[in-house]
Amino acid sequence: MLLNKNILLCVTGGIAVYKAVALVSKLTQAGAQVKVIMTESAMKFVTPLSFQVLSRNDVYYDTFDEKDSRVIAHIDLADWADLVVVAPATANAIGKIANGIADDMVTTTLLATTADVWIAPAMNVHMYENKAVMRNIETLHQDGYRFIEPSEGFLACGYVGKGRLEEPEKIVSLISEHFNSRKKPLPLQGKKVVITAGPTRERIDPVRYVSNFSSGKMGYAMAEAAAALGAETILVSGPVCLAKPQGVKVLDVESAQEMLEAVLSHYGDADIVIKSAAVADYRPAVVQQQKMKKKDQQMALELEKTTDILKTLGERKEGQLLVGFAAETVDAIAYGQSKLEKKNLDYIIVNDVTDPGGGFGSDTNVVTLLSKNGTHKPFEAMAKPMLAKKLLESIMEEEEVMPHDR
Ligand code: CTP
Repeated sequence: MLLNKNILLCVTGGIAVYKAVALVSKLTQAGAQVKVIMTESAMKFVTPLSFQVLSRNDVYYDTFDEKDSRVIAHIDLADWADLVVVAPATANAIGKIANGIADDMVTTTLLATTADVWIAPAMNVHMYENKAVMRNIETLHQDGYRFIEPSEGFLACGYVGKGRLEEPEKIVSLISEHFNSRKKPLPLQGKKVVITAGPTRERIDPVRYVSNFSSGKMGYAMAEAAAALGAETILVSGPVCLAKPQGVKVLDVESAQEMLEAVLSHYGDADIVIKSAAVADYRPAVVQQQKMKKKDQQMALELEKTTDILKTLGERKEGQLLVGFAAETVDAIAYGQSKLEKKNLDYIIVNDVTDPGGGFGSDTNVVTLLSKNGTHKPFEAMAKPMLAKKLLESIMEEEEVMPHDR
């Protein structure tokens, strides 16, 4: 829920500090990173150790106790936070924040942060209704601070009224709603991406075939990256030994002809097609129905061309963004450029399969991304999943997020 969110909790001194301990526990359970700053008076109620154990982070309370000499703690914490929560916030803390006073670690950090600050007051009902406190709350409202209203009920001082710190569960759910509502839609949300991967097998007879060394790793990584970016992802896969990627619809095929049919069946409403498969260029002209028996010292196999799938897609393009791969052993860029033009592509990812940092079967790859606009972007050797993500991001950047919206 709050994965990778940095929450800075400022704890000021009131009996509700014990609830702040529960709040840290619930925030960390929800996946947040939590750091805690306490005032002197907060430490009269609960020791920093409780917060340290639950947050698994150092607790800060002294502005002049710099734990790390490379940074200034109150600036570092202020910059680190995605959200600052002051809970419980005493009348005194509210008064200081409203007036720009910075005389301890909490208030100094609050002045330095540009993150949203939420204040959860907790105090006696009469203190809460006091005109000075109301004035300070109003000032802070106007300055853009958000308040988590205290709830009504029995107060520790014996009164019944408004002043109880909101329950930790409720505070966590407000924080989650806040981050969820700010979530940007994923860049490929609502887009359909078709990716091909692996080799094709072209049958000679019931026990033999013509194929190549493609492992499918690059195409599978591209599919996983597209799905992670929110795309409806269809992976047309030749025979490989790889686990099916998460969130991807896999269509298993064997031959170039089957791959062509599977891709065409999804081409009409596709937004992006990425052809990472190493499609066989030739197949046996005749597929023998029975196992061929060995005869002469030499034998010739007659092959015929398969359909160039990518070229076919290029000819039938109706706004789809077409991305090809070029596996080369010499003059990679020049060959890549000519395939980009001949097949009417938008991008081609060129890789020299003889490069020790990449190629068939390798877990890493070294490629150059060429675009029809003439841009050349080299990528250094890196793991295929990381490279796949970077390639898609580069393409989206060049397309200004989305291809030819149709
Ligand atoms: N491709 C395809 N159908 C084929 C052959 C290739 O769709 N029958 C696609 C590949 O998936 C790749 C691109 O075309 O995206 C380039 O493939 P590559 O094997 O590098 O080039 P070829 O066009 O086959 O040319 P050559 O073998 O002469 O280098």
